[in-house]
Amino acid sequence: MAHVHRPKVIVGNWKMHKGIAEARSFVTGLALSHFTSLVGLAVPYTCLSAAAEAARGSAIMIGAQNVSDNEDGPFTGEISSKMLKDTGATFAIVGHSERRQHFHEDDTLVNNKIKRLIESGLRPLMCIGETLEQHQDGKSHQVLHAQLINGFRGLTPGQVEHIIVAYEPVWAIGTGKTASPETVEAAHAYCRKVIASAWGKDTAEHIIIQYGGSVKADNAAALLALSDVDGLLVGGASLALESFTKILHAQEHSKS
Ligand code: 13P
Repeated sequence: MAHVHRPKVIVGNWKMHKGIAEARSFVTGLALSHFTSLVGLAVPYTCLSAAAEAARGSAIMIGAQNVSDNEDGPFTGEISSKMLKDTGATFAIVGHSERRQHFHEDDTLVNNKIKRLIESGLRPLMCIGETLEQHQDGKSHQVLHAQLINGFRGLTPGQVEHIIVAYEPVWAIGTGKTASPETVEAAHAYCRKVIASAWGKDTAEHIIIQYGGSVKADNAAALLALSDVDGLLVGGASLALESFTKILHAQEHSKS
């Protein structure tokens, strides 16, 4: 495969943490620090406007952690892609394993959410990854294959190319157990192969595939140095400005 230069994209996922004032001061502080990768923060819905406002004029992308699969209508408590766009958000996570596990989200729902985001001009960040049981049963690739094919169903190669994929093995999330570089590299290469066979080589070579799961300042550089790892999705270590900026600086020390 011809070598395509893919930028490194590092995104923090705050999950259900932080209020408006804290989000504002975090983003303001982050905007003042030096980083060479593309940086994003997926913040709670309530913080979106304030975070987007604080990020204005900087390279920081602000996004949501979820979106409704409906355009609008009687869906009490839901937030549509148009509403997200309205806050200044530019991307949204879909299919995080916590939503798949606790809110029973399946690939069809994830696929519909992706379509709503694309319609509104927002960039989808789709999480995929196997559970511990699936990992131990040797079913990791089978799970990744289904999540990619079903999650991207009906999309054109051009639309798929613009999506960020985050490989987050469920057993590595919040556990302190990072997947080994060999496991990560094999999973990412496999995802690229699946995308190449369904949406073409060009799409597979350009799509950003992040790794997520217990990423910390001390393992970030080694993960970023892997040729098929195009960035990181960081949970716990993105909550403090100091640990998050250390991860951003790790990018400069990785070999790529
Ligand atoms: P941790 O980095 O806390 O393991 O979380 C990973 C994650 O779920 C990011 O979306």
